[in-house]
Amino acid sequence: ADTKKIAILPGDGIGPEVIAEAVKVLKKTEELFGYKFETESNLFGGIAIDEKGTPLPQETLEMCKRADAVLLGAVGGPKWDNNPKELRPETGLLGIRKALGLFSNIRPAVIFDCLKEASTLKPEVLEGTDLIVVRELTGGIYFGEKFRRDTDNGQEAVDTCVYNVKEVERIVHQAFQIARTRRKKLCSVDKANVLETSRLWRETVNRIAPEYPDVELEHVLVDNCAMQLLRRPSSFDVIVTENMFGDILSDEAAMLTGSIGMLSSASLGEGSFGLYEPVHGSAPDIAGQGIANPIATILSVALMFKLSFNYQEAGDVIENAVKNVLDAGHRTGDIAVDKSKAIGTTAMGDLIVAAMKR
Ligand code: NAD
Ligand code: IPM
Ligand code: MN
Repeated sequence: ADTKKIAILPGDGIGPEVIAEAVKVLKKTEELFGYKFETESNLFGGIAIDEKGTPLPQETLEMCKRADAVLLGAVGGPKWDNNPKELRPETGLLGIRKALGLFSNIRPAVIFDCLKEASTLKPEVLEGTDLIVVRELTGGIYFGEKFRRDTDNGQEAVDTCVYNVKEVERIVHQAFQIARTRRKKLCSVDKANVLETSRLWRETVNRIAPEYPDVELEHVLVDNCAMQLLRRPSSFDVIVTENMFGDILSDEAAMLTGSIGMLSSASLGEGSFGLYEPVHGSAPDIAGQGIANPIATILSVALMFKLSFNYQEAGDVIENAVKNVLDAGHRTGDIAVDKSKAIGTTAMGDLIVAAMKR
């Protein structure tokens, strides 16, 4: 079999802790399937600022460009929170997404039946919830011009939100195509009653929609969507939205699954190359304690197998292993109803690896 090169960026906080468990899953997959993974890791985020003076060193970016896929932990932490923009871990994250052309961020929120009790919502509301947020990742207010200026009323700060038709088209086509492989429902989320970028977004979606007559399309304003996600989560299939709305709505969707520690993500461009990372951050409040939930990162490996390598069965093996371990009652603290019985990060990783079977 050919060797897949995987660039690994552990990052900060719980990043290295959850990545260590995902690496065990890679090793186990090699044993089970005879695949070969060549892994290489490098500095990224806060730790790269400390050691190299920049959150995204050239060498790290080059390593990612040479790879078939990137596996990322998380970046950020209080140590760097007051740094200027160029010396912030988050700037490195935005920079790598942009540099690698990863305009499409796929965030599936799937409820494991046995975790209904872990969610803050009523189990009957969650029944059947299986949705994907498709978030535009390299445009919008994250990447528009930003500056400060002095005015008579003190300093003024400006963030500009910009989208062009091409940027909207490519993400919307992707979302329609994903909807086609699922329950064929697409919900486009915007703020077209107020924002010009949203009006362009909605016009573009409506222009593309006739190419996908088999997909049912609805437009929902973002404030209403935030509410409907809690009211009728199971009615959503694919949600497509701009960068910042997608960031916010996907954290909200995470709570449907019981914890942000469960949500995986894939960031894709035009080809099969992708960057895979949990939706959560570096969780400074629990970093270094060995209690973080590694499942989001492990499920991100399953996404990598399916979306970048076309290793469908290996992806299924991981997802089934996670399901079996949860069904057997094992829980990290974030998803445990009885916190006194919670297990740690490595114990959870080991159980999942042991449960991986063809
Ligand atoms: P966060 O996702 O790191 O944490 C939010 C809450 O969820 C915390 O209470 C945390 O303990 C908990 N949590 C997160 N992941 C968990 C896991 N795997 N297991 C158990 N509990 C988990 O968000 P935040 O606190 O707003 O941000 C912390 C730092 O992370 C900031 O510097 C932020 O910029 C950064 N961040 C990075 C990424 C990324 O690297 N992709 C994503 C989000 C936030
Ligand atoms: C995410 C994070 C990032 C984002 C931050 C850390 C820049 O919240 O991956 O969801 O807003 O995209
Ligand atoms: Mn986020």
